[in-house]
Amino acid sequence: MAREPDLMARTSDARPTSIAAAREAASHCRACPLWEPATQTVFGRGPEDAPVIFVGEQPGDQEDIAGEPFIGPAGKVFDAALGEAGIDRSRAYVTNAVKHFKFAPRGKRRIHAKPNGGEVRACRWWLDIERELIRPKLIVALGATAASAVLGKTVTIRDARSTLIDLDEGTRALVTVHPSYILRLPDKVTQDRERRAFHADMALVLQTV
Ligand code: URA
Ligand code: SF4
Repeated sequence: MAREPDLMARTSDARPTSIAAAREAASHCRACPLWEPATQTVFGRGPEDAPVIFVGEQPGDQEDIAGEPFIGPAGKVFDAALGEAGIDRSRAYVTNAVKHFKFAPRGKRRIHAKPNGGEVRACRWWLDIERELIRPKLIVALGATAASAVLGKTVTIRDARSTLIDLDEGTRALVTVHPSYILRLPDKVTQDRERRAFHADMALVLQTV
């Protein structure tokens, strides 16, 4: 497979010692096939001394073009929840489990496709570097893909949600839903209920950091 030599070349590289250096290194990453059809690597954003890291799944269409995480429709739901809880996004570090947009072309549109286990594992190299450099008090996993990347095992949102989980050296994890899940709900009543539950998880974030 063409993938293995790339992965080995990357993992034998010196580990970046700053977020800026990691972002630059990740912009050339070819450790899984997702780099090729995507526009660019969408690395995390936020201060290196952030007390909290939010982890999404992967960039969407708009994020792929802008090069910034959570700026499209899911980002709006995320921003609203942060605003409601009184969390200043500029003090948080926001990233994704997978740093290239995976999609299927449909006419002129690009439809989100779920990253597979191999892609999530390959990209954990970058997430682990972000974690090591930032050493936050809390890592918030938005959705199941982020939760499996953060916890290193598969969990269901229903079982893992809203409880603080001890990770390593003073870092805890909190699992909640992905904002896109709320957008996909068919009726307004369920959407409102899920928005409130999401906002409550963000209030727990504020209490924890
Ligand atoms: N969904 C994600 O998981 N991450 C983004 O950055 C945007 C949408
Ligand atoms: Fe590298 Fe992650 Fe992009 Fe795959 S998705 S090429 S591992 S940065």
